[in-house]
Order: sequence, then structure tokens, then C-alpha cells
Amino acid sequence: MSPKNNTKNLQIEDGAERSKPILHQKAREIQPYGKIAKLPIALDEKVCAESVENLNQILADTMTLRDLYKKHHWQVAGHTFYQLHLLFDKHYGEQDELVDTIAERIQLLGGISLAMAADVAETTIIARPPRGREEAPVQISRLLEAHETILKEARTMAGQADDAGDDGTNDLLVSDVIRKNELQVWFLAEHLVDVPLVRAANG
Ligand SMILES: [Fe+2]
Repeated sequence: MSPKNNTKNLQIEDGAERSKPILHQKAREIQPYGKIAKLPIALDEKVCAESVENLNQILADTMTLRDLYKKHHWQVAGHTFYQLHLLFDKHYGEQDELVDTIAERIQLLGGISLAMAADVAETTIIARPPRGREEAPVQISRLLEAHETILKEARTMAGQADDAGDDGTNDLLVSDVIRKNELQVWFLAEHLVDVPLVRAANG
């Protein structure tokens, strides 16, 4: 083989080698959970850490409420099946948007957002529902309780963020989390008002 051909073969082998995927790679985490990787956003690290901790609690509870909506979207039964099936999925989608907004704010504050189901299950304060199906009024009651849990903590945390000067977190909690949850509560709660469907009660 001439030296020229040899060089060519080496180049081909080299090229193929470089295009092979490098599998089963492992390394230490680049940031442990609970530590802040401070970004230049003119907020103290202590303020960022406090907001991250609060937002991760809201995130875990919002993910749980989101998934509760999907469970009920699939499992709802009865005369109001179709409208509740659609409403539950609409609220699921809106909660899913909130999840992304909250998680990305945690990251921009230099924190790490919770992501996986097992970590969410360990963190949420919303009661675990049974695996089986429940009646629609029970599903709605369960959702309303979860909303109120989130609203209560969001109001407290919004005040804390305001006091600490973290306007972005305060705005997210008030404009996104609180307003969206309040609106969804209204749409749910009206389903539990016991009014006649056809004949007026005192007609
Ligand atoms: Fe669906």
C-alpha cells in the first residue's frame, strides 16, 4: 500500500469513528439540587434561594393538580360526562402551562426545578387520590381542595416575594398562578350548585 492510500484509509476510519455515538456516559451532576447558580439579575442569592424553595413547592403542587385533572378527564362518569371531560382537559392544559412557567422561573433564579414524579410525590402537600374512579361531585370537590391549597400558599409566597423585592416571582404568583387558579375554581364550583335542570323548584 502506498503511503498516499494509507493516509486516505486512516482518514475514512477516523471519520467513521468520530460519527459513532459515545454511549453509557456518566459524570457527577453539574449542580446539586438546593444550590443556587447565581445569574446576573440584580437579586441577592439569599432572595433567589428563598423564591426557588417557595416556587418548587408551588411547582410540585401544580404538577399534582395538573395530573389530577388528567386522571379525572379519563375517569369521569355520568350525565355530565362530555362537558366535564372537556373542561377537565382544558384546565389540565392551563395548569401544564403554569408548570412550565414556574419551572423556568426557578431555573432563571439559579435554582433547579423539580421534574420527576417521585420527587413531586415526596414534595406535594395535596392529598393522594385513590387509584380507582370517583363520582363527579367527589372529583370536583377534590379538585377544589387542591386549588385552595395552592391559592393559600401562593398568596403567602407572593407577599414574601414582594417583601424581598423579587417582583418577577411576585408577578408570576399573582398574575399567573393566583388568577388562573381563581378562575378555574369558579368554573368548577358552579357545577356543585344544586339547581333544578328542567322544572323550577318553587314554580
Ligand atoms: Fe383526552
